[in-house]
Amino acid sequence: MKKILITGGAGFIGSHVVRRFVKNYPDKHIYNLDALTYAGNLENIKDIENEPNYTFIKADITDAEHINSLFEEHRFEGVLHLAAESHVDRSIKDPLAFVKTNVMGTMNLLNAFISLWKDNFTDRRFYHISTDEVYGTLGAEGLFTETTPYNPNSPYSASKAASDHFVRAYGETYGLPYVLTNCSNNYGPYHFPEKLIPLFINNIINNKPLPVYGDGKYTRDWLFVEDHAVAIDLVFHKGKNHETYNIGGFNEWQNIDLVKLLCSIMDKKLGREAGTSEKLITYVKDRPGHDLRYAIDAAKINKELGWKPSVTFEQGLERTIDWFLSNQEWLNSVTTGEYQKYYNNQYDVTK
Ligand code: NAD
Ligand code: DAU
Repeated sequence: MKKILITGGAGFIGSHVVRRFVKNYPDKHIYNLDALTYAGNLENIKDIENEPNYTFIKADITDAEHINSLFEEHRFEGVLHLAAESHVDRSIKDPLAFVKTNVMGTMNLLNAFISLWKDNFTDRRFYHISTDEVYGTLGAEGLFTETTPYNPNSPYSASKAASDHFVRAYGETYGLPYVLTNCSNNYGPYHFPEKLIPLFINNIINNKPLPVYGDGKYTRDWLFVEDHAVAIDLVFHKGKNHETYNIGGFNEWQNIDLVKLLCSIMDKKLGREAGTSEKLITYVKDRPGHDLRYAIDAAKINKELGWKPSVTFEQGLERTIDWFLSNQEWLNSVTTGEYQKYYNNQYDVTK
């Protein structure tokens, strides 16, 4: 495959994937297709924008006609599909936007890919990047495996689950050569500050309240984003057709413990007295349908493809915090305008 399309490459995870592919595969041409919604930002991939094997295409995956014409023009041989509406809280406020992008947008890509290559799928691949949230929630025990039944609880996870089902159905019905991965919570540089870790880093820097939902005892399994990009690279090149792989960090944290850890690291980095940032913790109204616990069993990708996380949580968090502290211009540029409106509305800020 010489012509590779990555969708959502101006977003958080996509930017790391695009950077990795552009740098590691100089003999392949990488096309980054992104609508540049509030979550997409060309600054995230500025360092590679002039590379000869890179092209940016501004396009919306919900525009079927435009997507078809792009496939006909460029004849993408491999697709890594990351473009999505990705924030659970936004999906609760505007579920239809998630159906449009995550379901209809995925359908448009599937249809364009099928109609271009249906006569010969040899050496072609459609890789759908998805989430562990499709499995719903765990109780105190157990892990999500590739055979855990789908049981999504938020409009976001329902839309991702629907898109996963369509990918698999296209595999069965039309012979689509697909691979699919379901990953746990990522963190790292360029993470949009609506999500827990970057939001709280930004609020600590600015001495703003840290809004912990409910009792803070919800658990997530955190993975450094560059390790996810490595896994994506491996699955794209070595994964078996029609297979799903779970990807996770082997790294479960209750939100409140994670927030306290963040506070103590940030106090040291900012030269503040120990305990200063913890005083910003504010318990707020819970997220409706809040999943209690996610945790991934990543044994399959480990055994079959030899992948495991390379960065410890200590190292990853340190790198992430250092990145945000030295990129405050980036933070400031993405937290104006639409973001402020979203923030005030989400967190009931009246003044
Ligand atoms: P993100 O919100 O940071 O980025 C999404 C990107 O998609 C943005 O650049 C945005 O402009 C683009 N986009 C949105 N709608 C589009 C449209 N209609 N047409 C074209 N581009 C559009 O998301 P992320 O956190 O980087 O997640 C990327 C993918 O990985 C998503 O599919 C998500 O479901 C999945 N995922 C995310 C995580 C996580 O922890 N963030 C974990 C597992 C899986
Ligand atoms: O598990 C993978 C998923 O992880 C991805 O598919 C999603 O795209 C990604 O957004 C993420 O979803 P979460 O809902 O787990 O992430 P978020 O950062 O929004 O929240 C993490 C936890 O922190 C969750 O239990 C809710 C809580 N939280 C979040 C925010 C934004 C708070 O307590 N306060 C907050 O203000």
